[in-house]
Amino acid sequence: MLKGRHLIDPMDFTIDELNSIFDLADEIIANPISYADICKGKLLATCFYEPSTRTRLSFEAAMLRLGGQVLGFSSAESSSAAKGESVKDTILTIASYADICAMRHPKEGAPKVASLNSPIPVINAGDGGHQHPTQTLTDLLTIRSLKGRLSNFTVGLCGDLKFGRTVHSLIKALSRYEGIRFVLISPEELKVPQYIREELLSNEHVEMTEIEKLEDVIGELDILYMTRVQKERFFNEADYVRLKDSYILDKEKMTMAKEDLSVLHPLPRVNEISVDIDKDPRAAYFSQARYGMYVRMALIMKLLGV
Ligand code: NCD
Repeated sequence: MLKGRHLIDPMDFTIDELNSIFDLADEIIANPISYADICKGKLLATCFYEPSTRTRLSFEAAMLRLGGQVLGFSSAESSSAAKGESVKDTILTIASYADICAMRHPKEGAPKVASLNSPIPVINAGDGGHQHPTQTLTDLLTIRSLKGRLSNFTVGLCGDLKFGRTVHSLIKALSRYEGIRFVLISPEELKVPQYIREELLSNEHVEMTEIEKLEDVIGELDILYMTRVQKERFFNEADYVRLKDSYILDKEKMTMAKEDLSVLHPLPRVNEISVDIDKDPRAAYFSQARYGMYVRMALIMKLLGV
């Protein structure tokens, strides 16, 4: 049962629970009209202390398409956080107005703190450079829809693997499935954090390679997950400027890739994918954004128990 639960970490739900969310998302995609009023009278609060386009708007679109309503704020400056209010006090207040809350926060662990004090379900919509479990639901539903399975792949994750929270959550979630080979492609300075590497290495059925050059491995990949260098998490501008264009996926590199490669990106993109390949049938990032709305519709329904 997912009713009343929180989603803070991608491992909070079992594989069966995840499958029930993906099955429901598939049903909603096939027949959206039959879900158009299912959350009537319910209210979603989006508490975003950090910028967002897709995550906040897809949560809001999800609730509105289910017939519910939304309220919230989209920057810390426009909330009482600017006056020094604690996350605990904020969630206790929000819980007396809304039925469910999606929270994004620059501090790692803030949505967890909110969940520990909350009588309503709290969804982590990204906490600092830590985790982003609903992007992972999006990524898994996209992969399941494109490939028909969530096992037996070579997955390349490329770019900022150090600060990229979507990468951390996706690695955790995918390592539970059979036959996953991870190829981690990043400059030395942007390798995955030690805690993620240790988790991967301790998992016997997972294979992992770390490499610097995308062109050396692109031909082996079934999925390529590109990421943005996370400017906002750098301590100095010079390091960001040096590393920001470490990878640019372009037409030439795509000629070396498999015919059935799927290119994913959580977006926003900066320079790491050339716009020239947007029309390549292997470019899946804009359909991925759409899956994000459907999977959030399914998630909201499950957590509200409607
Ligand atoms: C990601 C995020 O916020 O972590 N964006 C998103 O939610 N789709 C990725 C990013 O900002 O690079």
